[in-house]
Amino acid sequence: MPSPFAPFPLNRSRRLRRTGWMRDMVAQSSLTADDLIWPIFVREGEGVVEPVASMPGVNRLSVDEAVRAANEAAALGIPCIALFPYTKAQHKTPECEEAFNPENLVNRATRAIKAAVPGIGVMLDVALDPYNSMGHDGLVRDGVVVNDETLMALEKQALVQAEAGADILGPSDMMDGRIGIIRQALEAHDFPDVAIMAYSAKFASAFYGPFRDAVGASGALKGDKSTYQIDARNADEALREVARDISEGADMVMVKPGMPYLDICQRVKAEFGLPTFAYQVSGEYAMIMAAGGRGWIDEEKAMLESLMGFKRAGCDGVLTYFAPRVAALLAE
Ligand code: PBG
Repeated sequence: MPSPFAPFPLNRSRRLRRTGWMRDMVAQSSLTADDLIWPIFVREGEGVVEPVASMPGVNRLSVDEAVRAANEAAALGIPCIALFPYTKAQHKTPECEEAFNPENLVNRATRAIKAAVPGIGVMLDVALDPYNSMGHDGLVRDGVVVNDETLMALEKQALVQAEAGADILGPSDMMDGRIGIIRQALEAHDFPDVAIMAYSAKFASAFYGPFRDAVGASGALKGDKSTYQIDARNADEALREVARDISEGADMVMVKPGMPYLDICQRVKAEFGLPTFAYQVSGEYAMIMAAGGRGWIDEEKAMLESLMGFKRAGCDGVLTYFAPRVAALLAE
Protein backbone atom coordinates (compact mmCIF):
# COMPACT_ATOMS: atom_id res chain seq x y z
CA MET A 1 0.00 0.00 0.00
CA PRO A 2 1.41 3.42 -0.90
CA SER A 3 2.00 5.78 2.01
CA PRO A 4 -0.76 8.41 2.32
CA PHE A 5 1.81 10.91 3.56
CA ALA A 6 3.58 13.38 1.35
CA PRO A 7 7.34 13.00 1.38
CA PHE A 8 9.73 15.55 2.81
CA PRO A 9 9.80 18.50 2.28
CA LEU A 10 6.05 18.68 1.58
CA ASN A 11 5.58 16.93 4.89
CA ARG A 12 7.49 18.46 7.79
CA SER A 13 6.60 17.12 11.28
CA ARG A 14 8.15 20.12 12.94
CA ARG A 15 5.45 22.50 11.61
CA LEU A 16 3.10 21.28 14.32
CA ARG A 17 5.77 21.52 17.02
CA ARG A 18 6.79 25.11 16.30
CA THR A 19 4.83 26.95 19.00
CA GLY A 20 3.32 26.17 22.37
CA TRP A 21 -0.25 26.91 21.29
CA MET A 22 0.14 24.62 18.29
CA ARG A 23 1.53 21.80 20.44
CA ASP A 24 -1.36 22.24 22.88
CA MET A 25 -3.87 22.30 20.04
CA VAL A 26 -2.75 19.01 18.52
CA ALA A 27 -1.97 17.24 21.82
CA GLN A 28 -3.63 13.83 21.87
CA SER A 29 -3.57 12.99 25.60
CA SER A 30 -4.24 15.12 28.63
CA LEU A 31 -3.79 14.80 32.36
CA THR A 32 -6.22 16.31 34.87
CA ALA A 33 -6.90 15.97 38.58
CA ASP A 34 -9.84 13.71 37.65
CA ASP A 35 -7.36 11.08 36.55
CA LEU A 36 -5.79 10.70 39.98
CA ILE A 37 -6.26 8.35 42.90
CA TRP A 38 -4.11 9.25 45.90
CA PRO A 39 -2.81 6.37 48.05
CA ILE A 40 -2.44 7.39 51.71
CA PHE A 41 -0.82 5.50 54.59
CA VAL A 42 -2.64 5.65 57.91
CA ARG A 43 -1.32 4.86 61.37
CA GLU A 44 -2.43 5.08 65.02
CA GLY A 45 -2.22 8.23 67.08
CA GLU A 46 -3.35 11.82 66.81
CA GLY A 47 -1.74 14.72 65.04
CA VAL A 48 0.94 12.37 63.69
CA VAL A 49 2.66 13.01 60.35
CA GLU A 50 5.47 10.49 60.11
CA PRO A 51 7.75 10.51 57.05
CA VAL A 52 8.34 7.26 55.15
CA ALA A 53 12.11 7.12 54.72
CA SER A 54 12.14 5.41 51.32
CA MET A 55 9.41 7.70 49.90
CA PRO A 56 10.46 11.35 50.33
CA GLY A 57 7.38 13.56 50.62
CA VAL A 58 5.10 10.69 51.68
CA ASN A 59 3.95 10.37 55.29
CA ARG A 60 2.06 7.98 57.50
CA LEU A 61 -0.90 9.90 58.88
CA SER A 62 -3.00 9.42 61.98
CA VAL A 63 -6.73 9.31 61.30
CA ASP A 64 -7.28 13.03 62.05
CA GLU A 65 -4.44 13.92 59.66
CA ALA A 66 -5.88 11.54 57.05
CA VAL A 67 -9.15 13.48 57.29
CA ARG A 68 -7.16 16.65 56.63
CA ALA A 69 -5.53 14.99 53.64
CA ALA A 70 -8.96 13.97 52.36
CA ASN A 71 -10.09 17.59 52.61
CA GLU A 72 -6.97 18.67 50.76
CA ALA A 73 -7.65 16.09 48.04
CA ALA A 74 -11.23 17.27 47.66
CA ALA A 75 -10.10 20.90 47.41
CA LEU A 76 -7.62 19.90 44.69
CA GLY A 77 -10.29 18.07 42.71
CA ILE A 78 -8.83 14.60 43.31
CA PRO A 79 -11.83 12.26 43.10
CA CYS A 80 -10.64 9.38 45.26
CA ILE A 81 -8.13 8.39 47.93
CA ALA A 82 -6.92 4.86 48.71
CA LEU A 83 -6.11 4.03 52.32
CA PHE A 84 -3.39 1.63 53.46
CA PRO A 85 -2.74 0.77 57.11
CA TYR A 86 0.55 0.73 58.96
CA THR A 87 -0.32 -2.07 61.35
CA LYS A 88 1.47 -2.51 64.65
CA ALA A 89 3.35 -5.80 65.00
CA GLN A 90 1.07 -6.95 67.86
CA HIS A 91 -1.93 -6.77 65.52
CA LYS A 92 -0.32 -9.08 62.96
CA THR A 93 -1.25 -12.73 63.40
CA PRO A 94 -1.11 -15.91 61.31
CA GLU A 95 -4.93 -15.82 60.97
CA CYS A 96 -4.99 -12.08 60.15
CA GLU A 97 -7.97 -11.41 62.45
CA GLU A 98 -7.32 -7.66 62.39
CA ALA A 99 -8.27 -7.66 58.70
CA PHE A 100 -11.90 -8.30 59.62
CA ASN A 101 -12.05 -6.15 62.72
CA PRO A 102 -14.75 -3.55 61.95
CA GLU A 103 -12.77 -1.11 64.12
CA ASN A 104 -9.40 -1.59 62.48
CA LEU A 105 -7.42 1.41 61.33
CA VAL A 106 -8.62 1.68 57.73
CA ASN A 107 -12.24 1.12 58.71
CA ARG A 108 -12.07 3.83 61.37
CA ALA A 109 -10.32 6.15 58.94
CA THR A 110 -12.94 5.46 56.28
CA ARG A 111 -15.79 6.31 58.66
CA ALA A 112 -14.06 9.50 59.78
CA ILE A 113 -13.35 10.60 56.21
CA LYS A 114 -16.83 9.74 54.96
CA ALA A 115 -18.37 11.76 57.82
CA ALA A 116 -16.09 14.78 57.33
CA VAL A 117 -15.57 14.87 53.55
CA PRO A 118 -18.67 13.42 51.92
CA GLY A 119 -17.63 14.36 48.39
CA ILE A 120 -14.52 12.20 48.18
CA GLY A 121 -14.29 8.57 47.14
CA VAL A 122 -12.58 6.08 49.43
CA MET A 123 -10.93 2.94 48.13
CA LEU A 124 -9.63 0.12 50.34
CA ASP A 125 -7.28 -2.73 49.53
CA VAL A 126 -8.59 -6.23 50.06
CA ALA A 127 -5.55 -8.34 50.98
CA LEU A 128 -4.19 -9.79 54.18
CA ASP A 129 -0.57 -8.61 54.08
CA PRO A 130 -0.85 -5.64 56.46
CA TYR A 131 -2.32 -7.98 59.09
CA ASN A 132 -0.33 -11.13 58.45
CA SER A 133 2.58 -12.02 60.73
CA MET A 134 3.93 -13.91 57.70
CA GLY A 135 3.72 -10.78 55.52
CA HIS A 136 1.86 -12.57 52.73
CA ASP A 137 -1.38 -11.53 51.04
CA GLY A 138 -2.92 -14.89 51.89
CA LEU A 139 -3.02 -17.33 54.79
CA VAL A 140 0.10 -19.48 55.12
CA ARG A 141 -0.22 -23.20 55.92
CA ASP A 142 2.94 -25.29 56.18
CA GLY A 143 4.86 -22.65 54.28
CA VAL A 144 2.32 -22.46 51.43
CA VAL A 145 0.05 -19.49 50.69
CA VAL A 146 -3.29 -21.27 50.47
CA ASN A 147 -5.92 -20.06 48.06
CA ASP A 148 -9.39 -21.22 49.04
CA GLU A 149 -9.10 -20.64 52.78
CA THR A 150 -7.79 -17.16 52.04
CA LEU A 151 -10.93 -16.44 50.03
CA MET A 152 -13.06 -16.85 53.15
CA ALA A 153 -10.90 -14.34 54.99
CA LEU A 154 -11.00 -11.88 52.08
CA GLU A 155 -14.78 -12.14 52.00
CA LYS A 156 -14.99 -11.16 55.67
CA GLN A 157 -12.50 -8.35 55.14
CA ALA A 158 -14.43 -6.97 52.16
CA LEU A 159 -17.70 -6.96 54.08
CA VAL A 160 -16.38 -4.95 57.05
CA GLN A 161 -14.83 -2.49 54.59
CA ALA A 162 -18.11 -2.07 52.73
CA GLU A 163 -19.86 -1.65 56.07
CA ALA A 164 -17.37 1.10 56.98
CA GLY A 165 -18.39 2.99 53.85
CA ALA A 166 -15.71 2.19 51.27
CA ASP A 167 -16.87 3.17 47.79
CA ILE A 168 -14.37 1.01 45.93
CA LEU A 169 -12.77 -2.25 47.00
CA GLY A 170 -9.43 -3.09 45.45
CA PRO A 171 -8.64 -6.79 45.80
CA SER A 172 -4.85 -6.81 45.54
CA ASP A 173 -4.12 -10.31 46.80
CA MET A 174 -4.06 -12.27 43.50
CA MET A 175 -5.84 -15.34 44.90
CA ASP A 176 -7.85 -17.23 42.29
CA GLY A 177 -11.60 -16.64 42.48
CA ARG A 178 -11.49 -13.63 44.78
CA ILE A 179 -13.47 -11.24 42.64
CA GLY A 180 -16.40 -13.64 42.34
CA ILE A 181 -16.44 -14.38 46.07
CA ILE A 182 -16.32 -10.71 46.99
CA ARG A 183 -18.90 -9.63 44.40
CA GLN A 184 -21.35 -12.32 45.53
CA ALA A 185 -20.82 -11.45 49.19
CA LEU A 186 -21.50 -7.77 48.46
CA GLU A 187 -24.72 -8.66 46.65
CA ALA A 188 -25.83 -11.04 49.41
CA HIS A 189 -25.21 -8.46 52.15
CA ASP A 190 -26.96 -5.56 50.48
CA PHE A 191 -23.94 -3.68 49.19
CA PRO A 192 -24.84 -3.79 45.48
CA ASP A 193 -23.32 -0.37 44.77
CA VAL A 194 -19.82 -0.96 46.08
CA ALA A 195 -17.49 -0.94 43.08
CA ILE A 196 -14.60 -3.34 42.58
CA MET A 197 -11.36 -2.16 41.03
CA ALA A 198 -9.52 -5.43 40.62
CA TYR A 199 -5.76 -5.49 40.84
CA SER A 200 -6.01 -7.91 37.95
CA ALA A 201 -2.63 -7.64 36.28
CA LYS A 202 -0.49 -7.48 39.38
CA PHE A 203 3.05 -8.59 38.77
CA ALA A 204 5.58 -10.02 41.24
CA SER A 205 7.73 -6.92 41.37
CA ALA A 206 10.80 -5.44 42.99
CA PHE A 207 9.12 -2.04 42.77
CA TYR A 208 6.90 -2.63 45.82
CA GLY A 209 9.83 -2.36 48.25
CA PRO A 210 9.18 1.11 49.68
CA PHE A 211 5.45 0.33 50.12
CA ARG A 212 6.28 -2.67 52.24
CA ASP A 213 8.39 -0.37 54.45
CA ALA A 214 5.54 2.11 54.59
CA VAL A 215 3.02 -0.47 55.84
CA GLY A 216 5.58 -2.27 58.00
CA ALA A 217 5.37 -5.53 56.04
CA SER A 218 9.01 -5.82 54.91
CA GLY A 219 10.31 -7.39 58.09
CA ALA A 220 7.44 -9.86 58.29
CA LEU A 221 7.56 -11.17 54.73
CA LYS A 222 8.97 -14.67 54.43
CA GLY A 223 10.07 -15.41 50.89
CA ASP A 224 8.48 -13.60 47.96
CA LYS A 225 5.07 -13.41 46.30
CA SER A 226 5.85 -15.25 43.09
CA THR A 227 3.43 -18.11 43.79
CA TYR A 228 0.49 -15.71 43.39
CA GLN A 229 1.59 -12.53 41.61
CA ILE A 230 2.22 -12.67 37.83
CA ASP A 231 5.65 -13.45 36.41
CA ALA A 232 7.20 -10.38 34.75
CA ARG A 233 7.83 -12.41 31.58
CA ASN A 234 4.12 -12.95 30.88
CA ALA A 235 1.74 -10.67 29.00
CA ASP A 236 -0.97 -13.06 27.76
CA GLU A 237 -1.41 -14.39 31.27
CA ALA A 238 -2.09 -10.86 32.49
CA LEU A 239 -4.82 -10.50 29.88
CA ARG A 240 -6.38 -13.78 30.98
CA GLU A 241 -6.41 -12.55 34.60
CA VAL A 242 -8.18 -9.38 33.50
CA ALA A 243 -10.74 -11.36 31.49
CA ARG A 244 -11.46 -13.61 34.42
CA ASP A 245 -11.83 -10.74 36.91
CA ILE A 246 -14.27 -9.01 34.56
CA SER A 247 -16.27 -12.21 34.17
CA GLU A 248 -16.45 -12.49 37.98
CA GLY A 249 -17.82 -8.98 38.45
CA ALA A 250 -15.00 -6.42 38.46
CA ASP A 251 -16.15 -2.93 37.43
CA MET A 252 -12.67 -1.58 36.77
CA VAL A 253 -9.28 -3.17 36.38
CA MET A 254 -5.75 -2.21 37.28
CA VAL A 255 -2.27 -2.89 36.00
CA LYS A 256 0.52 -2.82 38.56
CA PRO A 257 3.33 -1.69 38.61
CA GLY A 258 2.86 0.96 35.96
CA MET A 259 5.85 2.11 33.99
CA PRO A 260 7.48 -1.27 33.30
CA TYR A 261 4.06 -2.61 32.19
CA LEU A 262 2.73 0.02 29.79
CA ASP A 263 2.35 -2.68 27.12
CA ILE A 264 -0.13 -4.42 29.43
CA CYS A 265 -2.03 -1.17 30.04
CA GLN A 266 -2.41 -0.64 26.32
CA ARG A 267 -3.50 -4.20 25.57
CA VAL A 268 -5.99 -4.33 28.44
CA LYS A 269 -7.66 -1.08 27.41
CA ALA A 270 -7.76 -2.08 23.75
CA GLU A 271 -9.10 -5.57 24.41
CA PHE A 272 -11.71 -4.93 27.10
CA GLY A 273 -12.51 -1.21 27.02
CA LEU A 274 -13.28 -1.19 30.75
CA PRO A 275 -12.11 1.68 32.96
CA THR A 276 -8.42 0.79 33.22
CA PHE A 277 -6.04 2.12 35.85
CA ALA A 278 -2.33 1.90 36.40
CA TYR A 279 -0.70 1.93 39.82
CA GLN A 280 2.48 3.98 39.72
CA VAL A 281 3.90 2.09 42.66
CA SER A 282 6.16 3.07 45.51
CA GLY A 283 9.39 2.06 43.75
CA GLU A 284 8.52 4.13 40.68
CA TYR A 285 7.83 7.11 42.93
CA ALA A 286 11.04 6.53 44.89
CA MET A 287 13.15 6.38 41.72
CA ILE A 288 11.88 9.69 40.41
CA MET A 289 12.28 11.33 43.82
CA ALA A 290 15.75 9.91 44.35
CA ALA A 291 17.07 11.04 40.97
CA GLY A 292 15.24 14.35 41.28
CA GLY A 293 16.64 14.91 44.77
CA ARG A 294 20.17 14.50 43.43
CA GLY A 295 19.56 16.85 40.55
CA TRP A 296 20.00 14.03 38.03
CA ILE A 297 16.61 14.59 36.46
CA ASP A 298 14.08 17.41 36.56
CA GLU A 299 11.78 15.88 39.16
CA GLU A 300 8.65 17.82 38.25
CA LYS A 301 8.96 17.21 34.52
CA ALA A 302 9.75 13.54 35.05
CA MET A 303 6.69 13.25 37.28
CA LEU A 304 4.39 14.76 34.66
CA GLU A 305 5.94 12.77 31.82
CA SER A 306 5.61 9.51 33.73
CA LEU A 307 1.92 10.18 34.35
CA MET A 308 1.24 11.26 30.78
CA GLY A 309 2.69 7.94 29.66
CA PHE A 310 -0.20 6.16 31.37
CA LYS A 311 -2.77 8.37 29.69
CA ARG A 312 -1.11 7.89 26.30
CA ALA A 313 -1.12 4.11 26.83
CA GLY A 314 -4.91 4.29 27.26
CA CYS A 315 -5.34 4.35 31.03
CA ASP A 316 -8.35 6.20 32.39
CA GLY A 317 -6.55 7.06 35.60
CA VAL A 318 -3.52 6.46 37.79
CA LEU A 319 -2.96 5.65 41.43
CA THR A 320 0.01 7.80 42.32
CA TYR A 321 1.75 9.17 45.39
CA PHE A 322 2.32 12.31 43.33
CA ALA A 323 -1.45 13.00 43.24
CA PRO A 324 -1.62 16.11 45.46
CA ARG A 325 1.52 17.60 43.94
CA VAL A 326 0.35 17.07 40.37
CA ALA A 327 -3.15 18.30 41.11
CA ALA A 328 -1.76 21.48 42.69
CA LEU A 329 0.55 21.98 39.72
CA LEU A 330 -2.26 21.49 37.21
CA ALA A 331 -4.42 23.97 39.11
CA GLU A 332 -1.80 26.74 38.73
C1 PBG B 1 -0.54 -5.46 49.05
C2 PBG B 1 -0.24 -4.31 48.18
C3 PBG B 1 1.03 -3.98 47.70
C4 PBG B 1 0.89 -2.77 47.05
C5 PBG B 1 -0.47 -2.40 47.11
N1 PBG B 1 -1.15 -3.39 47.81
C6 PBG B 1 2.36 -4.61 47.88
C7 PBG B 1 2.59 -6.03 47.61
O1 PBG B 1 1.86 -6.69 46.88
O2 PBG B 1 3.57 -6.52 48.16
C8 PBG B 1 2.04 -2.04 46.44
C9 PBG B 1 1.89 -0.59 46.25
C10 PBG B 1 3.17 0.13 46.02
O3 PBG B 1 4.27 -0.45 45.93
O4 PBG B 1 3.08 1.36 45.93
N2 PBG B 1 -1.41 -6.39 48.67
